[in-house]
Amino acid sequence: MKNLWGSRFQKQMDQMVEEFNASITFDIALYKQDIRGSIAHAKMLSKMNHLTEEELEQILTGLKKIEKKIEEGVLTFTYEDEDIHMAVESQLIKEIGDVGRKLHTARSRNDQVILDVRLYLKEEMEELFSIIQVLLKTLMEKAESHKEMLMPGFTHLQHAQPVTVGFHLMAYFQQFKRDLERLMDCYKRTDYNPLGACALAGTTIPIDRAYTADLLGFQAVTENAMDTVADRDFIVEFMSVSSLFMAHLSRLSEEFILWNAQEFSFIEIDDGFCTGSSIMPQKKNPDIPELIRGKTGRVYGHLLGLLTVLKGLPMAFNKDFQEDKEALFDTVKTVKTSAVIFSQMLENTTFKEEHIKKHMDKGFLAATDLAEYLVTQGVPFRTSHELVGAIVKYCEKTGETLMTLKDEVLPDIDSRLQGIVLPDLSSSACIHRRSSFGGTSPADVMRQIEKGKEVLEWS
Ligand code: ARG
Repeated sequence: MKNLWGSRFQKQMDQMVEEFNASITFDIALYKQDIRGSIAHAKMLSKMNHLTEEELEQILTGLKKIEKKIEEGVLTFTYEDEDIHMAVESQLIKEIGDVGRKLHTARSRNDQVILDVRLYLKEEMEELFSIIQVLLKTLMEKAESHKEMLMPGFTHLQHAQPVTVGFHLMAYFQQFKRDLERLMDCYKRTDYNPLGACALAGTTIPIDRAYTADLLGFQAVTENAMDTVADRDFIVEFMSVSSLFMAHLSRLSEEFILWNAQEFSFIEIDDGFCTGSSIMPQKKNPDIPELIRGKTGRVYGHLLGLLTVLKGLPMAFNKDFQEDKEALFDTVKTVKTSAVIFSQMLENTTFKEEHIKKHMDKGFLAATDLAEYLVTQGVPFRTSHELVGAIVKYCEKTGETLMTLKDEVLPDIDSRLQGIVLPDLSSSACIHRRSSFGGTSPADVMRQIEKGKEVLEWS
């Protein structure tokens, strides 16, 4: 008999089928969680008198030995081992003999695999919380030191109104802050102990699921065994939060790529995050934000892939679920590395104030300010919008800007402008006037940053 389930079979799998069926090449990544789960399960079995103290000791020693051997690379598995759960159990039997055959009492690979994934994902999410907090902190610090640095604000990628670099960065801060909130919410639904659901319907053997929950650090136990082994929605949720996070990171990456282009020249990305060209000696390309933008695609792909795997699956466990793992591992790796690298790149990016300034005279950025100023002089907004439109048309014809325009010419543009004295329409004056709650004024950006600091306390 080759495998632990082999007695019912007359024939063995051929090698290609065996390889196709096996998950050991990738679920080996779950060996720590698998052993941790087995330790808790064995302790519970002993508490419920299914194992003697001595048997428990033998099992625990055996499991710890296996963990050490895997860690040291002394123990490697082959396709024959099928998956991490079978591999550890077979090895345990090899190490300690027949006592090892008791470990799988009141347990199935179906609850075991989802236990491993929940333990894994909880750890990874905890790490991700702090990675995103670092990104948020980096954004706040950059925003604070750039809260007065002017830049054009865009709509439709056209100059719209003056803003500051700090304000622009704090827009992203809010998006990532919500991503962190969503991730923390997903954590709550991951934090349930599936162990004891067994194959699909629970067990006839007396067990204590609350005890294993306690040992493994779960806040509660899942309610329905069938749901427990068939539920992958916490993974879908994680992938969906990850997709949105990557969407936000990709948008910021896209802006970095644009700002780095000669046509904008708003930023200088540190050499450590760029590459050269094999043929064009002058080139310095923003490969890192491009790659982050590109990797967003694979994260979306994993989400859609898993949703498609789930669609139409009858209750309860189906082998299709095995397809969740590589997608999940790759999502975790992609999100983590993208976030860490982006934070480092952001910290090492210089905003080129002198270059950005050159753009501030283009596109009549202060037009809305002027329209709002006329409102304060008693002109109804719709009329002032019309009047400023005429002023802009005049300036376009004469090649002037709102800054160079003289009060004297206003009545020639429209007689209703008689007696108007133009206010300070410099971008700096504009941003300081935008002091409404949530606006671009440095004072409000500072308020946003102060309020934002609360995320650093979250855990
Ligand atoms: N290797 C499987 C997976 O990754 C878990 C095992 C459950 N398999 C089974 N045939 N009941 O999902």
